[in-house]
Amino acid sequence: LMGFGPDNPASLQLVMFAQNNPFPPNYTTSSGIPVSDPGTVMTAGPNGPMLVQDTSFFNELQHFDRERIPERVVHAKGTGAMGSFTVTNTEITNFSGASLFNQVGKTTPIFIRFSQVAGESGSADTVRDARGFAIKFYTEEGNWDLVGLNMPVFWIRDPLLFPSFVHSQKRNPVTHLRDWNMYWDFLSLMPETTLMSMFVHSDLGIPQNYRMMNGFGPNTFSLVNNQGEYVFCKFHMVSNQGIANMDPSTATQVAGADPDYYIRDLFNSISLGNFPSWNLSVQVMTPSQAKNFAWNPFDATKLWPLTEYPLIPVGIITLDENPDNYFDRVEQVGFDPQRLIPGIETSPDKLLQGRLFSYTDTHMHRLGVNNELIKVNAPLQTAKVANRQRDGAARTDNNQDGSPNYYPNSFNGPIANPRGKQAAYQVSGMVAAYDTSNEDNFSQATWFWNQLTSDERSRLVSNIAGTLGLAAPFIQERAVNNYLQVSDDFGNALAASLGINPASK
Ligand code: HEM
Repeated sequence: LMGFGPDNPASLQLVMFAQNNPFPPNYTTSSGIPVSDPGTVMTAGPNGPMLVQDTSFFNELQHFDRERIPERVVHAKGTGAMGSFTVTNTEITNFSGASLFNQVGKTTPIFIRFSQVAGESGSADTVRDARGFAIKFYTEEGNWDLVGLNMPVFWIRDPLLFPSFVHSQKRNPVTHLRDWNMYWDFLSLMPETTLMSMFVHSDLGIPQNYRMMNGFGPNTFSLVNNQGEYVFCKFHMVSNQGIANMDPSTATQVAGADPDYYIRDLFNSISLGNFPSWNLSVQVMTPSQAKNFAWNPFDATKLWPLTEYPLIPVGIITLDENPDNYFDRVEQVGFDPQRLIPGIETSPDKLLQGRLFSYTDTHMHRLGVNNELIKVNAPLQTAKVANRQRDGAARTDNNQDGSPNYYPNSFNGPIANPRGKQAAYQVSGMVAAYDTSNEDNFSQATWFWNQLTSDERSRLVSNIAGTLGLAAPFIQERAVNNYLQVSDDFGNALAASLGINPASK
């Protein structure tokens, strides 16, 4: 545990505030009216009942009673910081006309939120899970949100199953406990989760901190250049701090002693001038390469091999400023994969297409219809918002003044901007709900297993056995059977660790 003092700048926040603000302001109500007794209610006689006319009491309590907004349905625990993205290499401009990439040295302000996935807002940082790695780029052509993870793939490939996946990772609705039957039942019934389950149960499943992990936008996006030509791409953020992970027994101790360990680490690193940075790069695949790829290139449970699709460097991301208020910046930030700027577009990736709906929708619920007016979500002034949207709860700006609120109009309302045109592409096929559950779920998992050293393999097996061993025996057998498809060694080692006989493949 870190103590009070300059090595732990988080412990000095209030001290610094008092130093910088030597004169306390006069207390007021939320209407700015002076309050004479901020610590004492008004009563009829010293022991008497309270009075309805004590409006400063009601003002205080009514606001307090409404302090919490809904926590994020996933990724509820996290932290964030401000910084910048600077272009180091313009090769990407062959593929993308996005204005933030168009010049070496060009700098764009950013906000990043790192998060846990399954735990609630007060849960411990050092538990095994994937981590969210969401970046908002405040570009001159509007906000681009790259809403990624510290893992290069995702659990499932069909977004209709996302609520089921999340339910199986969160609490049992009767016991309100995490339930390893739910967790392993879903994963073992869905063999497409095999590769991601191996990433999460490998050493990478408990990073040392948020600074020492990589980031990925596991989905496939498109890059479109100024000639309207497109390629497909995946984004990577490689940590300049290196990768470090925490061993599970230390992580368990830290979870008890300092459940906010990652939040403290990021706040203190930035306060001490130790600014974390990541190199942003892209993998690029042409449409004809996509047709001949060994797998569906739009399957979020698969990697694109780096040997065939090498990283093209783009720029450096640096975090150098802590938010001046947690709720204002971190709790109210809303990331949304559908926020893409000219030059970066979607792809047929089904999981991405599902995400394009879900985040906008949840922000309307969590933050309200005017969530993009909140300072941390608002675009830069140079990307001034001009459209026909008006009104709604908490409309806190000038509501686009007197500009016409209908289109078309004869009074100089906003006009069409060809920069927003998306690349045209051919689609054909029969409309149907296609079952993709049997699309090669194991060969990349076998590749991953083959990369690991024997120590890494033993830790992977013991990390899986640690919670799989808490599930019903038939679920253990089904999961072992899946891992046998990855490698006989893997399935047999897991069965031995669980003390069960491996079922046949
Ligand atoms: C939140 C990443 C798949 C729905 C988040 C956050 C991240 C993330 C980083 C936290 C954002 C923040 O810090 O505020 C991903 C990645 C995915 C994925 C990389 C797959 C490649 C999905 C899918 C859905 C979904 C398939 C639904 C169809 C949500 C929702 C939130 C969320 C509703 C809460 C957002 C909020 O309340 O602000 N996701 N996610 N995600 N994700 Fe995803």
